[in-house]
Amino acid sequence: MSVAVVYGSAMGNTEGAAKLIAEKLGISDVFNIADIDPDKINSYDKLVIGTSTWGSGDLQDDWDAFDFGSLKLSGKTVAVFGMGDSESYSDSFCGGMGKLAEKLKEAGAHLIGSTSTEGYTFESSDAVVDGEFVGLALDNDNQEDLTESRIEAWVSKIKAQLS
Ligand SMILES: Cc1cc2nc3c(=O)[nH]c(=O)nc-3n(C[C@H](O)[C@H](O)[C@H](O)COP(=O)(O)O)c2cc1C
Repeated sequence: MSVAVVYGSAMGNTEGAAKLIAEKLGISDVFNIADIDPDKINSYDKLVIGTSTWGSGDLQDDWDAFDFGSLKLSGKTVAVFGMGDSESYSDSFCGGMGKLAEKLKEAGAHLIGSTSTEGYTFESSDAVVDGEFVGLALDNDNQEDLTESRIEAWVSKIKAQLS
């Protein structure tokens, strides 16, 4: 099974998380969405896809400019992760991850890797569906000390489904 991690990141936080996720998964295919074309993404069997949140609950700029219509993910297993700031943007925490998940589902993806909201403090988030985050929520602005352990726990939960 070929697996890749693809991320969009403005300041490097999501990039760092993407690299750590790949390391924990034991894979070396990690791509910035600004540098990869859709055909390459479509060539993978399974994907881990991440974005930070900008504006007010929006996708990171490179994802915002991306043509999601060019993705062919029918039936493919995809896990999403997001980076946000639960204190300064409490009303739209990790909203970009919610938007990303929606667009990937429209492209046919079978999403895995939802997580509990326990341990996070925020008002509202488009990334919460049926009481859970649609993927892994990370917050390097306020809880950077938890990022690695959250990634470790998440990867160990989804690893079998990605192999
Ligand atoms: C102008 C601006 C808007 C932001 N909007 C949100 C937001 O709506 N929700 C959120 O959770 N985080 C928001 N953030 C926080 C970023 O997502 C966070 O700092 C993240 O770590 C950036 O990751 P990156 O370096 O990978 O782009 C915003 C940050 C800035 C500077």
